[in-house]
Amino acid sequence: MKNLFKILDLSSAQITEILDSADELKLLRKKGIFSDALRNKKIGMIFEKASTRTRISFEVGISELGGTPLFLSGSDLQIGRGEPLKDTARVLARYLDGIMIRTFTQATVEDLAKYSGLPVINGLTDLAHPCQVLADLMTIREFKGSLEGLKLVFIGDGNNMCNSLVVGGLKMGMQVSIAVAPGYEPSRTILSFAATYGNQFKITYRPEEAICGADVVITDVWTSMGQEAEAAARLKAFSGFCLTKELLSAANDDYMVLHCLPAHREEEISEEVFEENAKYIFEEAENRLHVQKAVMLKVFA
Ligand code: CP
Ligand code: NVA
Repeated sequence: MKNLFKILDLSSAQITEILDSADELKLLRKKGIFSDALRNKKIGMIFEKASTRTRISFEVGISELGGTPLFLSGSDLQIGRGEPLKDTARVLARYLDGIMIRTFTQATVEDLAKYSGLPVINGLTDLAHPCQVLADLMTIREFKGSLEGLKLVFIGDGNNMCNSLVVGGLKMGMQVSIAVAPGYEPSRTILSFAATYGNQFKITYRPEEAICGADVVITDVWTSMGQEAEAAARLKAFSGFCLTKELLSAANDDYMVLHCLPAHREEEISEEVFEENAKYIFEEAENRLHVQKAVMLKVFA
C-alpha cells in the first residue's frame, strides 16, 4: 500500500488485513512487545486543523514502531504564509520518510504525495477520515465478533465521517442506513458508490426510520472544523437529530453507539446516551492507535 488517501481506495481484503494486524498489535502492546519496523524513519505530521486523538495516537504509534515523529503545525510552516504546497512537498521529501496530514481539501493530501513522492496518510480532510473509520470497524468487530450482516446507522451531517463510514460499512458487508438533514447529504461520489450496493444502503431525512433494527449507531458533530460560520444554521437544520434514548428505542436491544469525538452533549448526542456507551466510545478512541500502527506498517515500513 503506497498511501492511505481514503477508504474508497481500499479493497475489503485490505481492510480485513489492517483490522487483523491491528488486533494483533493491540495484544502485543498489552504484553509490552513492540516492533521497530520504523527504525530510522522520520515521519512528518502536518496539522492544518486542531487535533487531540489523531496527533497523540500517531505520535505515540510512530514512537512505538521505533520511528521519529515530527509535529508540524500548518500555521507555523511557510505553507501557512503562502508557500506553494508543491515546494513544501519537494523540501519535505529531502528530510522525511513519510507524512501524515490533516487538512481541508482531499486534493492537498493527494498533491502532497504527488510532489513529495513520499507515502502519505490522510489524518482527516473535509471529505474523508479513513483512520477513524478503520478504528470504528475494529471496535465494532471487537464487540460484535464480526461485521458482515450488521446494520450500521449514521445519524447527522453527511460529513467526512459519514462519507467514510458509508464506504467502509458497505465494503465490509454491513447494511448501512443514514439519516441526514436536507441539504447535508454525503458527497455525490459516495452516493454513487453506495447506489451500486442496492438495498444494502438507505438514506433518509428521518432519524427514527434509519435507526430501526440498528446494531451500531454512529453520530458526529453537526459543525465540522472549518464550518464554524455555519454553526447556527446547522444547529437549526439538525433539530430532532440528537441521539437520545427515545430515538434509540427502535434499535436492536444490544445496540452499541460510537462517536469519533470530540462530542457535543445535547447537540448530536445526549449526555445519557454518551455515558451509557462510554465503554465503546473510549475503546474506539484507543483503537485509533492500534489501527494506525497497522496502517503505518503497510504504508511507511
Ligand atoms: N476523532 C478525531 O479525529 O479526533 P481529533 O480531532 O482529536 O484528532
Ligand atoms: N467531522 C469532524 C470530525 C472530527 C474528528 C470534523 O471534521 O471536524
